[in-house]
Amino acid sequence: MKTDHDNNMVDYTFLGNSGLKVSNLCLGAMNFGKSTGTDFLSKAFGGPTQANEELSFQILDKYAELGGNFIDTADVYSFGKSEEIIGDWLMLREREKFVIATKVRSPMDLENINNVGLSRRHIIQSAENSIRRLKTDYIDLYQIHLWDDAVPIEETMRAMDDLIRSGKVRYFGVSNLTGWQLQKIVDIAKYKGLSPAISLQQNYNLMVRSAEVEAFKVCQNEGIGVIPYSPLAGGLLTGKFKRGEELDPTTSRVGYSKANNASFFDYPMDDKYWALIDELKSIAEAKNKTIPQVSLRWVLQKDIVAAPIIGATSVKQLESNMAAAKGWSLSQEEMKKLDDLSACKETYPYDLTYKFNFGRQNPYKK
Ligand SMILES: NC(=O)c1ccc[n+]([C@@H]2O[C@H](COP(=O)([O-])OP(=O)(O)OC[C@H]3O[C@@H](n4cnc5c(N)ncnc54)[C@H](OP(=O)(O)O)[C@@H]3O)[C@@H](O)[C@H]2O)c1
Repeated sequence: MKTDHDNNMVDYTFLGNSGLKVSNLCLGAMNFGKSTGTDFLSKAFGGPTQANEELSFQILDKYAELGGNFIDTADVYSFGKSEEIIGDWLMLREREKFVIATKVRSPMDLENINNVGLSRRHIIQSAENSIRRLKTDYIDLYQIHLWDDAVPIEETMRAMDDLIRSGKVRYFGVSNLTGWQLQKIVDIAKYKGLSPAISLQQNYNLMVRSAEVEAFKVCQNEGIGVIPYSPLAGGLLTGKFKRGEELDPTTSRVGYSKANNASFFDYPMDDKYWALIDELKSIAEAKNKTIPQVSLRWVLQKDIVAAPIIGATSVKQLESNMAAAKGWSLSQEEMKKLDDLSACKETYPYDLTYKFNFGRQNPYKK
């Protein structure tokens, strides 16, 4: 792909079985803007390293300068502020050069009982609100943030399909799904002739690999692009925390979230974690790379992955992390060491399924 960047640091890839091309690192905007409330969601977006508009612009500028074209946000990130910051930044740019992804599902107004979930009403209203905040005419990738048990998924998918037909949305994506939920979405799209989901955004890193068990199998079989979020487990896979040291709640999201009970995920910092950090450190030293670069490289080298979504709270972090995108790789041996140290124990019936299907790959089977 021709770009107008001299120092392009990324590759470009199709997003699943779609015609959309994205850089192989997506920029996450969850830490743009800051919430001040005391409810759980406000606390989650209220940490000390949330970026104000000026810093967010600097991060966006550097990301674009290095060739990135894929930006991920959500209506709920800092309750609309993240989308607004991206919208203001896009006004200074050629909007068409960027692929803007956002999400719907979270409550945006606790006083309004219909302002939550995956109902037709909430989806269409939320798309219009996101478009307004993003100061654009369309959303490139509109993602359901999480399954909604209360709403028939066909209602959700018809609303998405209508948004796509109306031109307000280009592609439909999904996030945080189990295997059966994703397969149901795939099948309904096929049998009812609705727009298919082209991407799955899932928590995936050296500390959380549960998506491999089912959801990624569906992606592989059905041509859905995987965009892993939190590839550094929110900062835990950077090597900046030291064994036996108290986490400082004022200098990192991880420290803040643990101290304020504001984490979406409770990652254990146990012996398995420290063994992983030791190995990451030794690989990083041997290759003259940083620990975050090695952690990101492990995600990038998984065949199923299209583009990990990285977060950065400084331009320095971003620039350094983007150097993982291309030009070097982990050896098979290094990948295996990290695979082994991060393996999760499979439960029944996954344990039996994998054990007795070992070596049963048929390249012609779809
Ligand atoms: N779909 C979903 O439910 C969902 C959930 C979560 C995230 N996401 C998406 O994924 C994106 C990325 O998630 P994430 O922020 O958790 O990603 P991540 O890459 O795992 O963590 C990023 C955080 O790690 C720290 N960090 C990054 N690079 C570093 C470096 N070189 N040295 C030291 N510290 C470093 C920074 O936080 P500190 O400086 O504060 O330590 C940074 O904000 C989000 O912005 C969002 O778009 C989606």
